[in-house]
Amino acid sequence: MEKIKIIRATALKEKPKDESALVFGKSFTDYMFTMEFSSAKGWHSPTIKPYAPLSIDPANLTLHYGQSLFEGMKAYRDAEGGVRLFRPADNFARMSIGAQRLAMVPLDEEMALAGLKALLEIEKDWIPRSPGTSLYIRPTMMAMDAFLGVHASDSYLFFIILSPVAAYYKEGLKPVKIYVEDEYVRAARGGIGYTKAAANYVASMLAGSQAEKRGYSQVLWLDAVERKYIEEVGAMNIFFVIGGKLVTPPLRGSILAGITRNSVIQLAKAKGLEVEERPISIDEVFEAAQSGAMSEAFGSGTAAVISPVGHFSWKGEEVAVNGGKMGKIAQDLYDSLTAIQYGRAADPFGWSIKL
Ligand code: PLP
Ligand code: COI
Repeated sequence: MEKIKIIRATALKEKPKDESALVFGKSFTDYMFTMEFSSAKGWHSPTIKPYAPLSIDPANLTLHYGQSLFEGMKAYRDAEGGVRLFRPADNFARMSIGAQRLAMVPLDEEMALAGLKALLEIEKDWIPRSPGTSLYIRPTMMAMDAFLGVHASDSYLFFIILSPVAAYYKEGLKPVKIYVEDEYVRAARGGIGYTKAAANYVASMLAGSQAEKRGYSQVLWLDAVERKYIEEVGAMNIFFVIGGKLVTPPLRGSILAGITRNSVIQLAKAKGLEVEERPISIDEVFEAAQSGAMSEAFGSGTAAVISPVGHFSWKGEEVAVNGGKMGKIAQDLYDSLTAIQYGRAADPFGWSIKL
């Protein structure tokens, strides 16, 4: 593997003093990792350099046709002051899968992980220390050809930037209110819904801001064909506890295969909970919430961790789950998952990687 070049910064930024005031994704550390792809050289020139704006051609293919793909992961500080990652190889593997769908090139996953570890070695003082905080990691891959033909790019840039964060939702662990979208759709099967393509997020933005204006934190998407089956939330997968079983929509190509989703399923099974990955209609959700058969609902994601849902609104009707309070199962899964992520508990799954 090519050696990583390190270019030192002449001055460093001031680190956030008040960790309780951290806003998700707003401040960035001193350095970034980059590597480039060309058809002649493959992935090359891995470099750690001062965080700085990119210079791109106005005809850059990413800007015009959206060959842009990202990942989201976190670095956690453990009790001994060490640095931990959670299933990082899975994020890079998912990026390669997404890259294939977007007609980009597969990532050099080994070089990406080596780059991330080297970057964290330099930036570890940026990992906040307060409970619930972490250093959010944003790997991104974008096309670099300057060309207006609708064709896959021949050149790419991969970069990793880092941002110290606290909870993703301003509510923290307080249950969020979710708006079930019945007009717009995010993704259809056969499309790119299962990738972390930038395009999926712009597809969700209008509905997201309309929901926010109505007082909801996020949108719950329904399937694109019938507007009937539950898909996922804007930045997290969704789980319901119905009749004591943990139920979540299956992976059929239109939703992201969340790494937290997969971890929650494995954790729940290890705790002896029954887990069902099956289609769930919005009618079932409302009926089960109204009858009390649904005792809990929560989202899962890297940024969101486990986020309880207190209310759903659909077609002008609102229903509360568990009286709008966080449930026992969500709390227990949150505790177990974060204990592994922060290295506070034994990790029989081998998910937590100490640097
Ligand atoms: N679904 C969407 C649309 C997301 O953006 C995310 C966040 O990454 C997730 C689900 C959760 O995925 P993961 O658990 O891998 O972070
Ligand atoms: C993540 O959880 O890492 C995400 O990517 C969510 C993001 C869109 C804020």
